[in-house]
Amino acid sequence: MAGAFAITKGTADEARWRGATRAGGRGPVPGPDGIVDRAPATWGLAARGALVEDGGPPLHLADLNRRDEVWADIAPKLYAQALAGQWDPATAVDWTAPIDHEPAVEAAVVQVMTYLVENEQAALVVPARFIARVHPHFREVVQLLAVQAADEARHVEVFTRRAELSGSPLGTSGAGGRASLQTLLDEPDFSLAAFLLSVLGEGTFLDLLSFLERHGPDPVTRRIAHLALTDEARHVAFGVAHLEHRVRHEPALRGRLRAAVEHRHDVLASTAGLHAGVYDALVVLAAGAWTPAAIAAGWDRVQVLIAAMDEGRRRRLARLGFSPDEAAELSALHTRNFM
Ligand SMILES: [Fe+2]
Ligand SMILES: [Fe+2]
Repeated sequence: MAGAFAITKGTADEARWRGATRAGGRGPVPGPDGIVDRAPATWGLAARGALVEDGGPPLHLADLNRRDEVWADIAPKLYAQALAGQWDPATAVDWTAPIDHEPAVEAAVVQVMTYLVENEQAALVVPARFIARVHPHFREVVQLLAVQAADEARHVEVFTRRAELSGSPLGTSGAGGRASLQTLLDEPDFSLAAFLLSVLGEGTFLDLLSFLERHGPDPVTRRIAHLALTDEARHVAFGVAHLEHRVRHEPALRGRLRAAVEHRHDVLASTAGLHAGVYDALVVLAAGAWTPAAIAAGWDRVQVLIAAMDEGRRRRLARLGFSPDEAAELSALHTRNFM
């Protein structure tokens, strides 16, 4: 018939996908759920499981591209829990609850909050810096780190709000405490950073936050300590699970973990660690009143806290396969700044 055309599909489209590779995903690929042991930079930002056209820009920024470097099987579950556990500082805390303790106790609360804020800021920066370095193929880890950073942003907010609640000026920031936090920011290795920050530092903070929840002299202090504690428990759970996963496949890593604690201790040996003002503030906060008997009781409570922190660190170190003696030794070398 005149004017009729026959359309034949060209080969350009097929040619375009020649050389394309499947970025893991479900199907005949290694690993559960299509998670591969090493994700190539050429997959870039592609979704896990996508058919990746050849020739895009390689994602060199994501240098943490080996599964064992970042993974923990609990990551997807913890991410779901983290989302379900998000809380709004505006509604989760009754900021109008009364503060009826004496000014010396309030000054102690303000000092402790001032200290907490700088520690939370370090805890925010560390995961945030790793987000871009984890290969997006391990998306559950990236997502979990993102929520962790958001948790810390909220902790910075509530501790700041509590510090400012009574209208008095903020407390002091010791150079030794900031030096201790700087060593966390300076650690470039993901697993070592998770070990120092989450297993040892945030692990120690679980006891500190429980202490503030129990002995805080006002409802706001007790409530925000409780809320932060529930978030921190997840951060610690990921750190411990990741390190457990890693040492299982690579027992020699324990030597590097040990060296990291010793190195940090040596770097900080000439600094004060926790400055005396914070320690004294914890005593007065737990005392709840400025009388000799109350201060004595507050001092006793802080001794119980220090022992509980040590016990908790030793327990977590044992989970990573350290012997009781080694765990005790490493716990004793942990920073006096707690985090
Ligand atoms: Fe926090
Ligand atoms: Fe945390």
